[in-house]
Amino acid sequence: MDTVSEQDLRRLVDADNGTVSREIFIDRAIFDREMARIFSRAWLFVGHEGLIPKPDDFFASRMGRDPVILTRNRQGEILVFLNSCTHRGMKLCRYDQGNARAFTCPYHGWSFSTNRDIVDEPGELVGVPHFEAGYGDRLDRRRWGLVRCPNVTVYKGTIWANWDAGAPPFLDWLGDMRRYLDFALDHRDGRPGGSEVIGGVQKWRVKTNWKFVAENFAGDMYHDISHRSVDAVGIGPGGKGRRDAQRPRLAIGFSALGHGVLGELPHTVEPEYAPTFASDPEVEAYYRRIYDDRVRNLGNQPRVTNSVGTIFPNMSFHSRQPRTILITHPISPTEVELWRLYLVDADAPQPVKDAARHYYLRYSGPGGMTEADDMENWTYATDSSAGAIARRHDFNYQLALGHAKPAPGLRGAVQSGTYSEENQRIFYRRWTQFMTGGDWSELMPQTTSVEADNAD
Ligand code: FES
Ligand SMILES: [Fe+2]
Repeated sequence: MDTVSEQDLRRLVDADNGTVSREIFIDRAIFDREMARIFSRAWLFVGHEGLIPKPDDFFASRMGRDPVILTRNRQGEILVFLNSCTHRGMKLCRYDQGNARAFTCPYHGWSFSTNRDIVDEPGELVGVPHFEAGYGDRLDRRRWGLVRCPNVTVYKGTIWANWDAGAPPFLDWLGDMRRYLDFALDHRDGRPGGSEVIGGVQKWRVKTNWKFVAENFAGDMYHDISHRSVDAVGIGPGGKGRRDAQRPRLAIGFSALGHGVLGELPHTVEPEYAPTFASDPEVEAYYRRIYDDRVRNLGNQPRVTNSVGTIFPNMSFHSRQPRTILITHPISPTEVELWRLYLVDADAPQPVKDAARHYYLRYSGPGGMTEADDMENWTYATDSSAGAIARRHDFNYQLALGHAKPAPGLRGAVQSGTYSEENQRIFYRRWTQFMTGGDWSELMPQTTSVEADNAD
């Protein structure tokens, strides 16, 4: 379609009855509207503090189709700028990461500084070739500084940004999904935070639509059939199935926020210890000790375990084994760039970090066996939906329609059993709301401070 109207969108997605048109996975005009309506207003994961530990460190990230520079200035502030020169648009920073005193454009040499000792506003234009002779006093250097993202938040090492100055605080956006994200980011012994990224960021491209990936991790337990060969190979940490000692999980969806997770309801008793890396006594001893510490540290506080989920729109994570973050960057209607970051306890002994890294890499990422299955599903589903005839036929999302009930202990959440497409229906309802919706009073009607309620 050339343009897409609100009426079209309401026709294409019927979340209440569980049907979704294939057009939303293929069509260019819909994709462009997603970038304008969702990715320019949502809180997006842009990186991790561990990627920019020192002053002047930078990391080239993305927010939707917009390339951004994530950097730490000399005053310790974490900043996000559009990675496009204000002179004529050149990609200012073409390296994946590094350290730079100033960002100098390779096209005509304009340069920009983030250092508050030199400039009032980080990102200001400080160097312009031929300044005196060519511009005299007619170039307003402040006016032509880098485009800066107004909202940046750090949460337990993860960095999030939002282009909309009026957006609600990140913790409101997250809601009680926070409990599941915490399980990925907290130290295994129960202390808040304390994880670090090991290695760099794995990046690769896949010919699929970004929503296939997001909804897969939001709640698709029933595609386990496509991982049978992986289970048979026994790549689990202890050499058994894909994930040793798996406990039953439920589809838990955050109806008003669009997030979804396959996980357990919060409970106050730690499940019995399950061997994690049984084939390596030293590593196993670490996890056993950490388990005892966690039981002691958390006492009878509510906790969650064993989850995989998606924070609307495109941040997914595994919180246990493996323990990773997956960001799905949209490139075109039928292409994504996937980024994986791998987490471990920062103070774990090296053999524990090595064992985790080996396991994570054979499970996830471009060389991971499980991800290979997933990528195959997403690319074939995208390719075989692009034809003129295929586009006329909706997808079915009716599994467990009508089975949702409130999820105890989680505000605004429902659970609908293990095999369900409720989380996908929640995701597409939220998607439609953003694609057709107006201001934040419609998108986040009951925004209150989650921080206050959750202080524990
Ligand atoms: S495009 Fe950057 S200096 Fe001209
Ligand atoms: Fe999978």
